[in-house]
Amino acid sequence: MELLKLNTSKSGVALSAELKSAALAANSLLYSGKGAGNDFLGWVNLPSSISAEEMKAIKECAASLRSKAEVVICIGIGGSYLGAKAVLDAMSNSFELLHKQHNNPIVLFAGQNISEDYTAELLEAVKGYSIATIVISKSGTTTEPAIAFRIIKEEIEKRYGKEEAKSRIVAVTDKARGALKTLATQEGYATFVIPDNVGGRFSVLTPVGLLPLAVGGVDIEALVEGAKAMEQATAESVAFEDNLAAQYAATRYALYTSGKKIEILGSYEPKLQNINEWWKQLYGESEGKDGKGIFPASVTLTADLHSMGQYIQEGERSMFETIISVEKPAHEVKVEADEANLDGLNFLAGKRLHEINKMAELGVQLAHIDGGVPNLLIQIPAIEEKTIGALLYFFEKACGISGYLIDVNPFNQPGVEAYKKNMFALLDKPGYEAESAAIKSRL
Ligand code: PA5
Repeated sequence: MELLKLNTSKSGVALSAELKSAALAANSLLYSGKGAGNDFLGWVNLPSSISAEEMKAIKECAASLRSKAEVVICIGIGGSYLGAKAVLDAMSNSFELLHKQHNNPIVLFAGQNISEDYTAELLEAVKGYSIATIVISKSGTTTEPAIAFRIIKEEIEKRYGKEEAKSRIVAVTDKARGALKTLATQEGYATFVIPDNVGGRFSVLTPVGLLPLAVGGVDIEALVEGAKAMEQATAESVAFEDNLAAQYAATRYALYTSGKKIEILGSYEPKLQNINEWWKQLYGESEGKDGKGIFPASVTLTADLHSMGQYIQEGERSMFETIISVEKPAHEVKVEADEANLDGLNFLAGKRLHEINKMAELGVQLAHIDGGVPNLLIQIPAIEEKTIGALLYFFEKACGISGYLIDVNPFNQPGVEAYKKNMFALLDKPGYEAESAAIKSRL
């Protein structure tokens, strides 16, 4: 089974031989380690280097949390949150929360915001359930998850006592540095290490993503297997004609340099919506620097045709669209014939919703191309762990290549610091006295 296909025939750009070899050269840099940010290339060979022992340890820890808790609260932000959320949503029943019986613990997320209402409502909602938590922070110093963890830790210790709490708290963090590591060591929590050479937004296939996903009942072996297949299919030795990540990166680059500054990622399957969010972080943080980079936007279809559709069809012509198309749904629902036909829909009688959805997809594609929005199509056979694993690695690899094509360091995020400095100054964090005085005079 082919895990992923890429169709760029409706992109409207022709790739020069020079661009194709530049994309392959960028791919090679990811292997030689001679490019910018070369201390963060651990993700390149990650799928093929995850050991059986590591998978076993993750699954054992997940089994222990599953046996203890009906609700597992996953604390993290950015790359320490979006991957698990994206894959979990893709692999879960859309209405899982309404089901009377749950085969897996409910995984909820915290620490991705500082909202008092969100936090209060979360604590309220889990009152009647047994709970555990996984706290994830590579740096171990990020404020949002640190605040959430202080609150959730207190709740767990209050309910179960300090000793039992230790078996309900797992930390995923740096092997040596950061406040979370110090705290986890002192309190005796089980810990998993995020490798030094894997940055947050490339960490979904480390325990950052794999542990919460195993807790949520996702087949993490199959996920990694799919990623591994894509790792091989986009390896340094693979020719441009066969290397889908190089093709996607080169096509995006050609579109960008032709004036298309916005890429909209969309899908006709709502459970892929958070794949869009993960992708936005991956590309936004990796490419958006030095005054460069495609702005990553997203839509969920057909819903957004009734909101963003107007702009995409007729607004400023600065965008292109990439659609993740799913070939086979997991379920079957047909439109039945209706004798009265008052809604006039009998012309659809006997058709599966999937057929109608596909015609919407085709119709929109052609309309958008006619409106000056080039289209790239990523086709996956079904929403399954293996295809999602391949998709994640495909996007990661293309992102590394894309960053090098536009000549930025795709593996840093210096721009994330500016807001933190202001926030700490406004909150009078010790050490920020001068900044505090300066910022307060501007209010
Ligand atoms: O991609 C990144 O590096 C960031 O988005 C981080 O994942 C995010 O800032 C969270 O950082 P940390 O895991 O250190 O708490």
